Amino acid sequence: MKGIVLAGGSGTRLHPATHVVSKQLLPVYDKPMIYYPLSVLMLAGIREVLVISTPGDRPLFERLLADGHSLGMSFSYAEQAQPNGLAEAFLLGASFLAGSPAALVLGDNIFYGAGLGEVLQAASAEPSGCTLFGYRVDDPERYGVAEFDASGNVVGIEEKPKQPKTQIAVTGLYFYDSDVVEIARSLRPSARGELEITDLNNVYVARGAARLKVLGRGMAWLDTGTPESLLEAGQFVRVLQSRQGSHIACLEEIAYRMRYIDGRALEGLAARYGKSQYGAYLRSVLEEETQA
Ligand code: DAU
Repeated sequence: MKGIVLAGGSGTRLHPATHVVSKQLLPVYDKPMIYYPLSVLMLAGIREVLVISTPGDRPLFERLLADGHSLGMSFSYAEQAQPNGLAEAFLLGASFLAGSPAALVLGDNIFYGAGLGEVLQAASAEPSGCTLFGYRVDDPERYGVAEFDASGNVVGIEEKPKQPKTQIAVTGLYFYDSDVVEIARSLRPSARGELEITDLNNVYVARGAARLKVLGRGMAWLDTGTPESLLEAGQFVRVLQSRQGSHIACLEEIAYRMRYIDGRALEGLAARYGKSQYGAYLRSVLEEETQA
């Protein structure tokens, strides 16, 4: 399976912070926002990732992440000229995917919780259909909202309904089989002029091929859509990291623990961070492992 991080859009709700830089490059506490969704793909076991951004921001993402080799990953880049909708990711990513199944994560979605890695690996191992993730929220009208039958199967998704049928929002993390590109090609723009991910998901629902796994209260799905929620996400990361001493979405650590890189490579990466807290943390990961 290959992965796509969609990190375009105009970020208008965060202006002026996003006037000259992409939202997904803003820091969430101690690291750029895109590290968080990227870490989700890495934890799912995905090693080939396409980062889609605006033409103006693409060079910045490339400078930040390069070709991924140092993490045992392979990163490529594509541009979305206009925010034409989330499902456009599969048109822009068609040649990158080359018939492979795909996971899409939105560049501003943050997930955290015990057992997340297993949940993600199970989703990526599904041989067909799609796997979506739901999360109970207080304000479902801001999201895609799932509806279920009596046995808990998803029977439909509504995009930003005025009167939501449930409180289960569909999160910005999606796993699809290789039909996804063909389905994306069949979509037409919605009333707001976008190729909607919800329309794409509803094709899978209509085929009886969509699974929706609700992430429970032990999992965090954080919003970064407004200045307040962005600050709260940063505070969440800070509190957990300082209390537990382990970092959230530390790409180098994940690459090491997933065995994408070895101890020597991690040592080299730690050295690049010099005296920063991040560098010290990477060295502590190595020391812990050597003592264990
Ligand atoms: O976060 C989950 C929600 O994401 C889902 O529940 C909704 O079903 C889905 O439509 C989407 O809703 P949003 O209102 O959050 O979508 P938004 O337009 O804000 O875009 C989400 C992110 O994707 C944002 O960081 C900008 C980026 N984006 C958006 C569009 C429309 C792109 O990179 N390209 C685009 O064309």
